[in-house]
Amino acid sequence: MGEKKSAEFKGRRAKGAIYFNENIKKILDILRESGDNGVSGEEIAKKVGITRAAVSKNVRKLNELGYTIKVSKKYILAGSPDIPYPWELRYGKNIIFFKDVNSTQDEARELILGRKRDRRNTLLDRIPEDSKPIWIISLYQRKGRGRLGRTWISPYGNFYGSAILKSDLPMKEIVKTSLVAGLSVLKSIKKYLEQEVKEGGIEIPDVVLDRIKIKWPNDVIFEIWDENSKSHFFRKVAGVLSEAFGEPDKVEYIIVGIGVNLNVSPIPEISYSLKDFIKKDVSLKKFTDILLDEFTNTWESFRYGRWFELKTEIERNLYRGRLEIIKDKGEKKFVGFAVGINPDGSLKVEKDDASFEDVYYGDVFPPEWESKMFENQKR
Ligand code: BTN
Repeated sequence: MGEKKSAEFKGRRAKGAIYFNENIKKILDILRESGDNGVSGEEIAKKVGITRAAVSKNVRKLNELGYTIKVSKKYILAGSPDIPYPWELRYGKNIIFFKDVNSTQDEARELILGRKRDRRNTLLDRIPEDSKPIWIISLYQRKGRGRLGRTWISPYGNFYGSAILKSDLPMKEIVKTSLVAGLSVLKSIKKYLEQEVKEGGIEIPDVVLDRIKIKWPNDVIFEIWDENSKSHFFRKVAGVLSEAFGEPDKVEYIIVGIGVNLNVSPIPEISYSLKDFIKKDVSLKKFTDILLDEFTNTWESFRYGRWFELKTEIERNLYRGRLEIIKDKGEKKFVGFAVGINPDGSLKVEKDDASFEDVYYGDVFPPEWESKMFENQKR
């Protein structure tokens, strides 16, 4: 009975997981280098150090995964899918990739709590030494989760990932982790857009890039100018969900879940995608590579004690507009302006009567969002 249960559990967790594969990476590198000239199976086999049969097996696998490899006398790579497979990314060795899952956040939690001795745990055991996060990434989520019990609608085309971080921080520091994660998302979005300006032939004035903001605690929003109504409106492009595991005075693991609307805006009334912004398809592979790199660097800065530098950067990019603050599931509410981040990570708000209040928990909505947010909970 016990055995059957654990087999089911393992089956459910392991289904569809794709890991970094050294041979596949080498084969792709060789194919890319040879370009249209192509390369023989024999040459690949020799360079990679595998048999020719293993080469053709891997080529079949790559074709199944969406690559187009033409085979005549030589192998020619005619196309690669825009999919962030682990071997396509700089941090690929730290990634567990899925085509679909219920929620990357739940997969990460099972990995931490399940503690099963499979390849994923070997990855997990590496965290303390190199401090690099382990990522669960999926192309689609059936039951994506947002903050405060909300749903995160997760169609194909966007980024969904959960980073598992090893930590010895006290629970009250977690809000800082969320802010730091939000900053890394904002920087990745800007970096992607800047690359598009450089290489993709699109124009984005700096003043427009400056309108991409962090909305406390960790959303990234776009402030968009509407020519018709001659006013600004706000749309959410990314969200972060942080969950901590361990004791109140010493957290063992933090799971930071990140969703970024790259090509699809799931709730047009409040959300926006990068594609809406640049009117051009956004590469999931390129964006994922940038985000994982930015996140790792920002998280390392935080771990090495640079919170105050990061806080300054967050404040520079903070949405400071007029806000409606909802606390405790909509019960308490007041209106004011976000004026800054306190040293402990809470939000400093100036209220309409000129007094200040610090916000530790809850959500902050630009005007006109509140009703729409709650309407969408019914979907
Ligand atoms: C929010 O703004 O409410 C946070 C949204 C977080 C969504 C991400 S998508 C990847 C990870 N998996 C989940 O189920 N949720 C987070």
